[in-house]
Amino acid sequence: MGRKKVAIVTGGSSGMGLAIAKRLSQMDMDVIVFDIQAPPEGFQYYQVDIRKDDQILNALSQIPQVDILINNAGIYFEKYLEDTSNDELDQMVDVNIKGTYRMTRNALPKIMEAKGNIVIIASCLGLVPELTSPLYCTTKAGLIMLTKCLAQQYADVGVRVNCVLPGPIDTPLLQRSFPDKESEKLCAARIPMKRIGRPEDIAHMVAFLVSDEASYITGGAFPVDGGVSSTSMYSKGRISSEY
Ligand SMILES: NC(=O)c1ccc[n+]([C@@H]2O[C@H](COP(=O)([O-])OP(=O)(O)OC[C@H]3O[C@@H](n4cnc5c(N)ncnc54)[C@H](O)[C@@H]3O)[C@@H](O)[C@H]2O)c1
Repeated sequence: MGRKKVAIVTGGSSGMGLAIAKRLSQMDMDVIVFDIQAPPEGFQYYQVDIRKDDQILNALSQIPQVDILINNAGIYFEKYLEDTSNDELDQMVDVNIKGTYRMTRNALPKIMEAKGNIVIIASCLGLVPELTSPLYCTTKAGLIMLTKCLAQQYADVGVRVNCVLPGPIDTPLLQRSFPDKESEKLCAARIPMKRIGRPEDIAHMVAFLVSDEASYITGGAFPVDGGVSSTSMYSKGRISSEY
């Protein structure tokens, strides 16, 4: 019997992160949630703000072995360039880019020791622009490049790095972005498959990428988005008179 794998899921207390934490637990891994809020059910949990090196390092110092890191924590809001305040600019970059960077940098020595792997949850909006959220799209495009750089750098020491590009997925984050039921319907109508995704749709892809079945896959960016990133019709904003 081999030893149990240990997986850290950032943002594992809600939405996609929670679905990923549940799915990896079913694969007989020890799952540890890093989040600013507690998970609703019995996962091992450290209260960690991924913007804070000291909190990340303190939690990691209590975890002897890390095989898998799922960089899932992220924030989203819609603001045109000219309406974005400096505080909002800092907030988005601090969580989505710098938080993911810090988390990965601090966990990497343990992941290298375990010859483990990393999955970054970026977004289909790292590939296709959403005109109402240029800053979010930019942070997610940055994470796709981070994935490629790290995958190249660590390939020959046996660490794989991939990213998943979710489309609209039914989570508290997405629900908060709908001002009313009608906007949710319009969102679904703009998706080629005509439905909003489920958190489990993402968890299944993550489960595959962290498994030994994906042992030859690194540096990839995998859309799970009902076809959004292959259409030119998704983007909303000023060029669309309809929505
Ligand atoms: N829901 C979607 O439609 C969608 C689409 C594409 C990509 N994503 C990405 O998927 C990821 C998960 O999103 P979700 O929809 O499940 O969101 P969510 O808001 O439901 O959950 C995000 C979790 O991250 C945690 N978190 C936020 N800031 C944090 C911080 N500084 N440190 C630690 N934890 C923090 C929150 O407490 C929360 O538990 C995000 O990176 C998001 O950008 C979401």
